[in-house]
Amino acid sequence: MVNQSLIFARAYEEAAEKRIPDSARPKFHLTPRTGWMNDPNGFSFYRGMYHMFYQYYPYDTEWNSMHWGHAVSRDLLRWSYLPAALAPDKPYDSFGCFSGSAIETEDGRQLLMYTGVRKEGGDKGKDIQTQCIAVGDGTDYTKYAHNPVLDASDLPEGLSPNDFRDPKVWRTEDGTLRCVAGARRADKRGVLLLFRSRDGFKWEFESVLAENDGSFGLMWECPDFFTLDGKSVLFISPQDMLPEGFEYHNGNGTVCQIGRFDEETKRFIPEHDQAIDYGIDFYAPQTILTPDGRRVMIGWMQNWDTCKLTGYEERLWFGQMSLPRELSIRNGRLYQQPIRELAGFRGRKLEYRDVRLSGEKTLEGIEGRCAEMDIRIRPEDSTNVFRKFTMRFAQDSRYHSLISFRPYESLLKIDRKFSGSRRAFIHQRRCQVADRGGEIRLHVILDRFSVEIFINDGEQVMTATILTDTSARGISFHSDGGAVMDLTWYSLSSED
Ligand code: FRU
Repeated sequence: MVNQSLIFARAYEEAAEKRIPDSARPKFHLTPRTGWMNDPNGFSFYRGMYHMFYQYYPYDTEWNSMHWGHAVSRDLLRWSYLPAALAPDKPYDSFGCFSGSAIETEDGRQLLMYTGVRKEGGDKGKDIQTQCIAVGDGTDYTKYAHNPVLDASDLPEGLSPNDFRDPKVWRTEDGTLRCVAGARRADKRGVLLLFRSRDGFKWEFESVLAENDGSFGLMWECPDFFTLDGKSVLFISPQDMLPEGFEYHNGNGTVCQIGRFDEETKRFIPEHDQAIDYGIDFYAPQTILTPDGRRVMIGWMQNWDTCKLTGYEERLWFGQMSLPRELSIRNGRLYQQPIRELAGFRGRKLEYRDVRLSGEKTLEGIEGRCAEMDIRIRPEDSTNVFRKFTMRFAQDSRYHSLISFRPYESLLKIDRKFSGSRRAFIHQRRCQVADRGGEIRLHVILDRFSVEIFINDGEQVMTATILTDTSARGISFHSDGGAVMDLTWYSLSSED
């Protein structure tokens, strides 16, 4: 049954979205209908449509009492909003409906599994986090009468009910359901718990799927667990990471572990780990298996440590989802490609071959804020490799953001210092790339307020958001020493 807070939120968002012109949003990245967005939730395919729910506060551009926003799409790029799906209105979720996931029940309903949060002993108390269910028809959802379905009594000894959240549910080959959720020990280290269910309503503890030995931050948020190319893959979004070389940065990070699932102990055995995204703005990704068998991931294209951006107040929305990315495993590593449906957005095409760069260069027609570029750089003289290649974008006389590549150090850097931000927080990040003797391939996607860089065929990805006014449309190239560039450019929408 739709209740008062949800009715209010739905009326509010419908009126408020009219104040946001399409031109103030990205073209093909999902933003909140109005107000604040964080994690992707309930990413699923149901009744012929992709569904994306998201952590949502409609009334402000800052995090507050969490609702679930809702949008649907046929191609994962053109999204239509549906009314908000959940509002915090029950005693067990009065502080918020936190992250979770979705699955179709055997009788064809859409089941949402989310974390209901209430405060222990008043507003200033600690969180009590439990897992709850709502079922619906793809638009309207009813919270289950016997919520919560998992609470403190389902936690193994020593785990805290203050941090027990973000259930990700999937159906196994025998038709039963599993879900993995994050929890925490007294020493603050994250633990991932596996639960099983026949029908999605009654759940029981199965095993500790994985544990933080102290290598990856403290609490583990938003887990996802799936098989890909014959391997088991675990995605974790840890809080409070310590940096490790250029692999992991401080704060909230993303970790992909590739390994195997031990059927005996029901434990995941990691064999390899890496960052999921090496840029500034990426967190809490969720994946789905598409009907045609692709494993596709979408993340929150933001990060808790960098989200106090000013400039969103007048924009009336904050938070974007990343591009949907197709995942694969090659040579034991995670690879990502922009979803192939993006090719349907391509407009004009320009190609430049063997462009000699030395100093600054602009190329006729190469500009724009919704654009796709395939850039291949190589040294002009392989015995005397250039020192630095730079591409500036979202550029005018005052603003620009840049990607630079230093072959001698194998470092790729993203820098948005001059993107219009008036705050001194993280504007740069570097990523160590494979040494290929000064060669690099960059597949760059610009969508007004973001850049996503797929490096060397998707071996690594760097993502960042920018706030720069869309009138800054310039793109230029620079090399310190002789470099040669091949470039294929597409505009990615009719108007840009
Ligand atoms: C991750 C997270 C989740 C939680 C949600 C609250 O970004 O902290 O763990 O469910 O956001 O909005």
